[in-house]
Amino acid sequence: MTHPVPAATPDSRQKRVLVIAYSQTGQLAAIIERLLDPLRADPRIAVHVETLRPQPAFPFPWSIARFFDAFPESAHLEPPALAPLSLTGDEEFDLVILPWQVWFLAPSQPVTAFLKHPVAAKLLHGKPVVSVIACRNMWMLALEKMKKLLADVGAELIDNVALTDRAPTMATLFTAPAWLLTGKRKPIPGLPVAGVSAQDTARSIRFGRALRDALLDDREKLRQPLLCGLAAVEANPRLLVSERAATRSFYLWGKLLRAAGGPGAWQRRPLLLLYVLFLITLILTVVPLSLILQALLRPFLTRRLAALKEVHEQPSGSGTERLHQYDF
Ligand SMILES: Cc1cc2nc3c(=O)[nH]c(=O)nc-3n(C[C@H](O)[C@H](O)[C@H](O)COP(=O)(O)O)c2cc1C
Repeated sequence: MTHPVPAATPDSRQKRVLVIAYSQTGQLAAIIERLLDPLRADPRIAVHVETLRPQPAFPFPWSIARFFDAFPESAHLEPPALAPLSLTGDEEFDLVILPWQVWFLAPSQPVTAFLKHPVAAKLLHGKPVVSVIACRNMWMLALEKMKKLLADVGAELIDNVALTDRAPTMATLFTAPAWLLTGKRKPIPGLPVAGVSAQDTARSIRFGRALRDALLDDREKLRQPLLCGLAAVEANPRLLVSERAATRSFYLWGKLLRAAGGPGAWQRRPLLLLYVLFLITLILTVVPLSLILQALLRPFLTRRLAALKEVHEQPSGSGTERLHQYDF
């Protein structure tokens, strides 16, 4: 899987691509494998995959206690340590592909740990970054946090792909946690399979084809989006009300829990139990209420929602005009 690490004085004829890898269920790994197929198949492109290994490792499937215990550090972008990376920071790459998942409306802890690692600051400084998200369906505010983490290391976000579970939000609020807690993708009879569909996973190859052509054409140097017109994202601004409410509560309760103790501390347990009850109430009230209210107010919100959709779909957009070229 890992190809030889490019030297600091690289072969100028080859384009060098760095890919960060972390995936618990294999969902994001499968998407990235499809995306990388066209890049790996081209001898003019060298791909280096850097696998992240948090210490201690996060479990999969999760126990309920470990799962919720991960939210204070996720919300506060305070990740655990990583096992030593294979790169030193002196390597040169033309393009960075950054696949990441959302944990509690923030970039997942392993990916946050990488972005806060001193080696990442050296590797990513001044480099064009293609972000690829695979999550349940709430990624908009996490992307804002990701932008800040990338800006902190001087990287340039040129594209964002977001692949989500296409089942109705209220169904995924049950199927996604059930998947993560049982390890089964269809954990609840009668409800849809959890996660990004097999078809959406297979179709990620279109992004790899477009990136290959762009690299061979030197277009990554322009620091402009390379994945426009490929239906890279589809933002749902109606989820923003819930995202804002939940982000706020994760942050405030996270502060309280972190004051009570570190990850796994028994002092956190009673507070966590209280928080889970609060969160379930929030999910069963704020999410459906805000969706119903917005459906009723739709005629008055149309323009505002369209503007928000466009903002959150930057930089790659939801256009489809190049699909005929790359999605076959
Ligand atoms: C601790 C935890 C918290 C999560 N929180 C969210 C979330 O806030 N929003 C979301 O859309 N998905 C969330 N997910 C789902 C992940 O983004 C991801 O889709 C899933 O964990 C599978 O990823 P992987 O197998 O590639 O690691 C969460 C998953 C975990 C493990």
